[in-house]
Amino acid sequence: MRTIESLGDLTSRTVLVRADLNVPLNDGTVSDEGRIVASLPTIRTLSAQGARVIVVSHLGRPGGEVKPELSLRPVASRLGELLETDVTFVDETVGAKASAVREAMADGDVVVLENLRFNAAETSKDAAERQAFAEQLAQGADAFVSDGFGVVHRQQASVTELAALLPSAAGLLIAAESEVLERLTERPERPSVVVLGGSKVSDKLGVIAHLLERVDTILIGGGMMFTFLKAQGHDVAASLLEVDQLDTVRGYMKKAEELGVKLVLPVDAIVAERFAADAAHETVGVADIANTAFGESGMGLDIGPESAKLFAAEIAQAKTVFWNGPMGVFEMQAFAQGTREVAQALVDSEAFTVVGGGDSAAAVRALGFADSSFGHISTGGGASLEYLEGKSLPGLEVLK
Ligand code: 3PG
Repeated sequence: MRTIESLGDLTSRTVLVRADLNVPLNDGTVSDEGRIVASLPTIRTLSAQGARVIVVSHLGRPGGEVKPELSLRPVASRLGELLETDVTFVDETVGAKASAVREAMADGDVVVLENLRFNAAETSKDAAERQAFAEQLAQGADAFVSDGFGVVHRQQASVTELAALLPSAAGLLIAAESEVLERLTERPERPSVVVLGGSKVSDKLGVIAHLLERVDTILIGGGMMFTFLKAQGHDVAASLLEVDQLDTVRGYMKKAEELGVKLVLPVDAIVAERFAADAAHETVGVADIANTAFGESGMGLDIGPESAKLFAAEIAQAKTVFWNGPMGVFEMQAFAQGTREVAQALVDSEAFTVVGGGDSAAAVRALGFADSSFGHISTGGGASLEYLEGKSLPGLEVLK
């Protein structure tokens, strides 16, 4: 991919930076600033070179409408605090105000424009509409740096069309993320262990299919474990189950056996009376999920302690670990232990550890683990999964 250096001397040049500042907000306050922090190196580098930096991003999915609760204003303000500089926020992406602010910029200034997705053309399925919006965005800019790794799997005006309109390059975050994911998939140090969790098996099918041929061990937890347990013949009571995926899952189990890949399923689970933080719960072996006091209405909400030990032992032997998806409903204290122990196993491991995906990154931070305890925390949810599925990502292809 083209690098920032390939853009030449950027002093006094107006550079548009596509970042992924899609961070969770709680009452207008940024509750996980991981993606803002990850965007800093590129913005700092460009500003230090004397470029006039205009940052664009989406926030949430406003669907082409102006939704005040999805304004980037609080994000811009946090960005300014982290950069320790004044960041000007403009409450539109294209138009007279944005042009006036751009024209008044001095070398090294940083400006953040409003949520790109307040304009329907950003995410339009119509290529001509995206192109027209990208042309408006590009006005007055000399170069484009794409650094929103979390959005490179999207064919959207500011990700793909814009990159083709201006001299463009990958920012430092995209370069770092791509390097890590390539190392994971193409040259992992063995043994290589993948830990998959999260609620839906269907979200992870492509990843399992692609990684089966590339890793030594796959550990399955989270809501998706119940489809695997059911495929093994267990009664999972009212736990999450994707019946339509049972045959696919059986196929993966067979393929893993043929390839000599260890597919490790939980041996116990925490089963709750209902989906609630204060629900009564029991820890049982996976053969007894339907035999708790809650009978067929019991639902598994976390892996059990024996499974957490088993997973930690596998992780301890690994040289490379990739983890995507929480082991249980970590947002509820009673069902957070499995996720906490897997996170701890990664922290204790000497392997190259990568935490991928929005949920897993949010989980480790919410549970109090520092980013620096892991080899790499990806800023990409869908993007890192699609990369691991072996798919070609339009936002990366256009930078090659
Ligand atoms: C993400 O949160 O994964 C990225 O910001 C992309 O957001 P999207 O799924 O709404 O396109």
